[in-house]
Amino acid sequence: MRYADLHRRSIEDPDGFWLEQAQAIDWVQPPTRALFDQRAPIYEWFRDARLNACWNALDRHVEGGRADQTALIYDSPVTDAKQTYTYRELRDRVASLAGALKARGVQKGDRVVIYMPMIPQALEAMLACARLGAIHSVVFGGFAARELATRIDDAKPRAIIAASCGIEPGRVVHYKPLLDGAIEMATHKPEFCVIFQREQEVAQLIEGRDLDWHECQVGVEPADCVPVDGDHPLYILYTSGTTGQPKGVIRATAGYLVALAWTMKNHYNVNPGEVFWTASDVGWVVGHSYIVYAPLLHGATTVVFEGKPVGTPDAGTFWRIIQEYGVVSFFTAPTAFRAIKREDPAGEMVAQYDTSSLRALYLAGERADPDTVIWAQEKLQVPVVDHWWQTETGWPICGNPQGYEALPVKIGSPSVPMPGYDVRVLDEGGHPVAPGELGAIAIRLPLPPGTLPNLWQAEERFVKSYLAAFPGYYETGDAGYIDEDGYLYIMARTDDVINVAGHRLSTGGMEEVLASHPDVGECAVIGVADALKGQLPLGFLCLNKGVARDHGEVVREAVALVREKIGPVAAFRLAVVVDRLPKTRSGKILRATMVKIADGEDVTVPATIDDPAILDEIAQALRSIGYPSA
Ligand code: COA
Ligand code: AMP
Repeated sequence: MRYADLHRRSIEDPDGFWLEQAQAIDWVQPPTRALFDQRAPIYEWFRDARLNACWNALDRHVEGGRADQTALIYDSPVTDAKQTYTYRELRDRVASLAGALKARGVQKGDRVVIYMPMIPQALEAMLACARLGAIHSVVFGGFAARELATRIDDAKPRAIIAASCGIEPGRVVHYKPLLDGAIEMATHKPEFCVIFQREQEVAQLIEGRDLDWHECQVGVEPADCVPVDGDHPLYILYTSGTTGQPKGVIRATAGYLVALAWTMKNHYNVNPGEVFWTASDVGWVVGHSYIVYAPLLHGATTVVFEGKPVGTPDAGTFWRIIQEYGVVSFFTAPTAFRAIKREDPAGEMVAQYDTSSLRALYLAGERADPDTVIWAQEKLQVPVVDHWWQTETGWPICGNPQGYEALPVKIGSPSVPMPGYDVRVLDEGGHPVAPGELGAIAIRLPLPPGTLPNLWQAEERFVKSYLAAFPGYYETGDAGYIDEDGYLYIMARTDDVINVAGHRLSTGGMEEVLASHPDVGECAVIGVADALKGQLPLGFLCLNKGVARDHGEVVREAVALVREKIGPVAAFRLAVVVDRLPKTRSGKILRATMVKIADGEDVTVPATIDDPAILDEIAQALRSIGYPSA
């Protein structure tokens, strides 16, 4: 009952509840109240307080007795490197980089885009921005130059910090040419770029614009932490919406730190001084929250892992890291476990390592399928905690508070709402449905601290995308149900967003790219089920009249185009040419019906379909590329 009381209190008395949690962090000026609702439905938290995120993540631990504790462990099987940094070392490196940025004019409120792989310098860059009150926007390395350009034009950064390259198994990702291409494409130009040269590839610097990471820090004065208002944006993180234009999710400083601080012990059951490992990427929200800010805020040790679950060098890598560093809580996406299970179904490699330090495994980012959960539970002999959240929320909406009150795990459910989240399932008219009934998952406003207060310079889009469908609620975009015990089940998305290997992608964005191919007249992209990645994008192409070229050639070009424009992360490899697309009489493409055909599910012919015969043509086209798969 402890959890139930806690949750009830967080909903009934948000101000009191969150002011109490606020004591976990350091303030320059403490808050007098938590919630500011004058601009409802736009809500703000801790607006009258002042603080600094970098201080909370680093300096206060240095001052408070953790100076010589390891803050960060870098383990990179792809470059055969390992290194550790104490809190003091990390603070000094961050202060020095912040000094270099400050010397070149970066100040509070300026944006800084960061385009880096999983190396300690990525965290240093983020924390250096936070130190100055500059707003960072990290772009995932698997995105192409055009996606980077879109984000540069939206965030309008004063500076960009990048690495010369990233390392993917079997290939070097040439970041610098991608960065140069993006700046060329973008209308907004940064004043300067700071480039971290990796020994695997030394990039050509552009005179007058690019600065070398080390050289620009020579002789500069280390920067102190700059206090910011509680609602000052710590970062902007772009995420996929239904169109090719990504949404710039704003993360306000104070609420985020307060919420993250609550989760570290109560949800992830980590104590200060212990090792917490999240195998994700700093380019995603999971990385922002649980590789960078939360573990450091909590005085724990974070692991920066540059590698893959398999092939770097084998399916035992995760277990080696848990053994080597004594990881107590481990967080990753289900797809990583599916990859391991496929290589090592009997779990022989797990048995070769001592993983006894581990207390629980946490999975999020996509649906945790029961087979994977059961396999992980059996092999690791720890609870497997599925939890559900989004870029927008910054921390778990639903989870299982292992460090507060470990609730029974129900496989297939990310358990129950975390404090401050009043989760409801609504019908189309916005009315709550009965337990067990499927509907749109919405959260009653206000959302708790740490969640998005707005979209970057796009308030109208924020209201339209999230608050308009169900007045008084935030629309999550996910559909599902709540059972009799209050456990939530996530079943599907209600929009055109798909989830590929835990990465959120917009089918609309891919359609925009495909439609730009000169031979493509019309197209549709759907997400089909995939045993490894959860979903894969699949494109249907209708060619322009008179195009007599080999269809295979057009498909190859279309695949290359998506990789070039969006990036390898889209994992777009499947496409097929069809004569026409199934549509309703009013012209809406019946994507959900095509998904069912591709996944081999029973199809009820929609009553609104214009011409049912098209469904046979679609089925035939899908069979030609092996769908539904066995
Ligand atoms: N920079 C550049 N390219 C990247 C990249 C990065 N940071 N991350 C991925 N890519 C590339 C991959 O190399 C791959 O390219 P390819 O088409 O040339 O092979 C492509 O993007 C697709 O990547 P991915 O979907 O990740 O597939 P994969 O085959 O490389 O790996 C898994 C499959 C399951 C091992 C991998 O997806 C994984 O480890 N996932 C963990 C999930 C995760 O961290 N999710 C984050 C949210 S919690
Ligand atoms: P992202 O913003 O990239 O983190 O993606 C968020 C989306 O991923 C959610 O809206 C869900 O669709 C999906 N998702 C995240 N976690 C889970 C989970 N535990 N179970 C099911 N879907 C999830």
